[in-house]
Amino acid sequence: MNVLVIGGSGLIGSRVIANLTELGHEAVSASPRSGVDSVSGEGLAKAVAGAHTVVDVSNSPSFDDERVLHFFTTSTGNLLAAERAAGVRHHVALSIVGADRTLESGYLRAKVAQEKLIEGSGFPYSIVRATQGRTNSRRGTHRLQLRTSECESRPWLRQSLTANRFQRVATGAVRAGRARRRRSR
Ligand SMILES: NC(=O)c1ccc[n+]([C@@H]2O[C@H](COP(=O)([O-])OP(=O)(O)OC[C@H]3O[C@@H](n4cnc5c(N)ncnc54)[C@H](OP(=O)(O)O)[C@@H]3O)[C@@H](O)[C@H]2O)c1
Repeated sequence: MNVLVIGGSGLIGSRVIANLTELGHEAVSASPRSGVDSVSGEGLAKAVAGAHTVVDVSNSPSFDDERVLHFFTTSTGNLLAAERAAGVRHHVALSIVGADRTLESGYLRAKVAQEKLIEGSGFPYSIVRATQGRTNSRRGTHRLQLRTSECESRPWLRQSLTANRFQRVATGAVRAGRARRRRSR
């Protein structure tokens, strides 16, 4: 296994695993149903061992303001600590376009808190922001934004992809992590 997908059993996670597998990566899902809980930490150290990249596409079971904030901050803190200890090389997380412009939503405040933890961690990362849902943007396209630790001083990179290519963006971030690993050898 070289890519661990936290939340790989979910809507986005299952597609990310399918895409990574199609491209020849060995991608494995970790989530409570496979005995890995990124909030309690159960099973986490064993799950991340051997991974070069961790893709976090987990989601909070509750969207209550306090619970969702607790989920994303605790889970992200636990993941980054476990990844650091295991020598993981790249952390990828999926967030939401415009998260920092809609702060009346407790869910989006929690996603911004998740982004800030990652950006402040000093750990190599890629944060992918996507619009939510299947066709909630005109002409069926999803807006995507990418920020990585490779170019922190730059603003978000922006692009649009057709809906059926939406989930491929995490795959691209994984490839960026692999390239980084090769350069640092
Ligand atoms: N869906 C979208 O359109 C969209 C757009 C932009 C961003 N995002 C972001 O993408 C992420 C995934 O969204 P989704 O719609 O795919 O969610 P989802 O279908 O609800 O899947 C949630 C995943 O999180 C896992 N999970 C729940 N609690 C966990 C825990 N304590 N530890 C580890 N894993 C846990 C679940 O595992 P079990 O199956 O084992 O319970 C499941 O695999 C979210 O962070 C969301 O903000 C989604």
